[in-house]
Amino acid sequence: MTADVSQLLPAAQALLPQIVAVRRRLHERPELGLQLPLTQAVVLEQLRALGLEPVAGSGVSSVTAVIEGGSPGPTVLLRADMDGLPLQEDTGLDFASQTPGQMHACGHDTHVAMLLAAARMLMERRAALRGNVLLMFQPGEEGFHGARFMLEEGLLDRAPSEVTGAFGIHIGTRYATGTINLRAGALLAAGDTVRITVRGRGGHASAPHLAADPITVAAEIILALQTAITRQIHAFDPVVLTIAHVVAGTTTNIIPEKAHLEGTMRTVSDEAREAGRALVRRVAAGIADTHGLTAEVELEPGYPVTYNEPAFTDFARGLAVELAGPDLVEEMDHPIMGAEDFSYVLQRVPGAFVFLGARPAGQDPATAPQNHSNRVVFEEPPMALGAALYAAVALRYLDA
Ligand code: NI
Repeated sequence: MTADVSQLLPAAQALLPQIVAVRRRLHERPELGLQLPLTQAVVLEQLRALGLEPVAGSGVSSVTAVIEGGSPGPTVLLRADMDGLPLQEDTGLDFASQTPGQMHACGHDTHVAMLLAAARMLMERRAALRGNVLLMFQPGEEGFHGARFMLEEGLLDRAPSEVTGAFGIHIGTRYATGTINLRAGALLAAGDTVRITVRGRGGHASAPHLAADPITVAAEIILALQTAITRQIHAFDPVVLTIAHVVAGTTTNIIPEKAHLEGTMRTVSDEAREAGRALVRRVAAGIADTHGLTAEVELEPGYPVTYNEPAFTDFARGLAVELAGPDLVEEMDHPIMGAEDFSYVLQRVPGAFVFLGARPAGQDPATAPQNHSNRVVFEEPPMALGAALYAAVALRYLDA
C-alpha cells in the first residue's frame, strides 16, 4: 500500500497561521552558534505540546525527538537547523530581530517552524508509520559544525531502529516562491579555509633590495592561484578559490616582515578538493621560494560536499511533484558552491537535501536580497509546502 500524502498540503496550509507564529517568534530572537537556549526552549515546548519526549543535547543546544510509528520498521531522519547570523537586520518587518547585531538571515527560523508542523502532522498519523521518525533540530550550521557535534553525541543511536534515510530542506530567495529545487549527486560544495603567511624581511621602503618584501610576493600568489586553477584543474570539476582577507604593513615607508592572506576554497568532488589543496601549497611555496621568501599554508577543512543520493533524490522529487505539481519542481542544472553541514549526516545516511523557493513576488532574481543579506525577506506561505514535504517524505518512506 502506498501512503496517501494528498491530504498533507491542505493540512499544512490549515496550520500556516501557527507555522508563521512560531517562525516570527524565533525570528524576533535569533541566536548564534552552538548555544541557542531561547530557540531550544521554544522547540522543546512545542514538541512536548505534541506529546513527544524531546531530548536536549548535552554539549550543544540541539534537540532530538523520536516519533514512534504504529508498527516496527526503519527510522527516517528529518532535519532543521536553528541558528542565525551576526548581521543587523534591515528589513523593516514588524517582526524583525529585536537582538542587535543578530538576524535570521538564512531562514533557519522557517526550517524550525516547518519541521515542528511536520512533526504535528506525523503525530496525527503515527499509527500509519511502519518505523520511526527522528527529528533533528541542530544549532551551529553557520560554520560551527553543529551537525557533526550531534553525530558525535550519538544522534543516530537515538532512534529505536537503524536510521536508513535522511532529509532536509533549505529556504532561499534564489528560487521562485513555492518551488522545490533539487538535483541528484553533488548539491553543495565542500568549503575549506585557506590561510597563507608570507614571511620576508622588513626594512625601509626606499631600499627594497635590503629587505625581502612579502607584499609583492603575496600579490603574485593571489593572481598565480587563479591562473593555476584554470590551467591545472578540470573545467567541469571546478575549484572556486577566493582570497577575501589580505593583511600586511602599517604605513607608507616600511616594508613589513610578513603578509597574511585568507580565503575559502570550494569544490564539489574529493578529487578537485585534493587537487586544489595541493595546488595552493605548491603555488604559494613555489612563488615565495622563487623570490627568496617562505610561505606557510594552512588548510582548515570545512564542511564536506553535500551529496544527494540518487534514489532518495528521485523519491523526494516524486513527492514534491505529487504535492506541488510538476511545474513547481525544478531540476537544478549544477551544484551551488555554498556549503552546508547536513553533509555530515548525508555521509552517514543516504538521503537528500532540497531548496524551497521563497523569493517575494516582484523581486528581480538578479537583485533580490539573498540569504545572508541583512535585507533578505522570505515569503511565508511556501512554509506550508515545506512542512508538507517533510511529512510526506517520512510518511511514504515508512510505508515502503
Ligand atoms: Ni542556511
